[in-house]
Amino acid sequence: MTRIHRCLVVLMFVALAGVCVERIAAESDKSTRISDPKAHRRVGAKRYPYRTKSDYVLKELDLKPGDTAVDIGAGDGFWTEKMARVVGAEGAVHAAEVSQKMVDRLKKKYASTPQIKPYLCKTDSTGLGPDSCDVVFFSQAYHHLTKGKRVDYLKGLRTVVKPTGRVVIIEKYTENGMGAGTHGTLLSRLISQAEQAGWVPVRVELMTGTYHYIAILAQKDLFPPEPKPKPRKRTKTPTTKPAAKSAGK
Ligand SMILES: C[S@@+](CC[C@H](N)C(=O)[O-])C[C@H]1O[C@@H](n2cnc3c(N)ncnc32)[C@H](O)[C@@H]1O
Repeated sequence: MTRIHRCLVVLMFVALAGVCVERIAAESDKSTRISDPKAHRRVGAKRYPYRTKSDYVLKELDLKPGDTAVDIGAGDGFWTEKMARVVGAEGAVHAAEVSQKMVDRLKKKYASTPQIKPYLCKTDSTGLGPDSCDVVFFSQAYHHLTKGKRVDYLKGLRTVVKPTGRVVIIEKYTENGMGAGTHGTLLSRLISQAEQAGWVPVRVELMTGTYHYIAILAQKDLFPPEPKPKPRKRTKTPTTKPAAKSAGK
């Protein structure tokens, strides 16, 4: 084996290792065995029970220092602030709000945190540029998007989110009458809308102790379709000669 061949083999191993590391780890590391039936009952804060699960949510978001996220419907900035701590000064968290009053409050509250960038967004898009975000986050905000326009909104996010970026949605789980009121989105409807828009659900979990689920979506292009099997070559079946008619019938 020449030196060039040896180098080529090493390069192939490095490339293969890279591919393995880059693969999306979609499997949750916890068992789904229900050992405590009470564990799924709602606990904590009355209005925002999902906020008691912030460590878990941040783990799922898996942001890194320097990342850029947008918190759509940031409200009082609860999640914006938590994400800003993780991405640090070299990253950014856009806090998108349709209410000017909210934007003004956020600007005042986070005046000394430059990575938090509150802004007034439109109801039908983030208004952010192509490939500008690693994560687009909605917490109790997806159901506020205009009915009938949600697939278009999600389609638009495919440009805003980097090719390997994700959309993370926390919504109330309203299937089987489990979530009261209208402030939620049927999980089945969300998944259908996401898939129509070109997203793939890489992880969907009920958030124990809340009435909410978390859905993590990745770009469909990361999951190329299974190649069609090659059509089998037809083997010619030998033609059998018709038996000669017996004479004298
Ligand atoms: C229920 S609050 C959620 C606040 C916060 N994300 C949380 O989880 O606690 C919904 C927020 O979404 C905002 N909102 C409604 N429609 C929106 C849209 N199309 N784009 C961005 N924000 C929107 C509202 O002004 C409101 O502050």
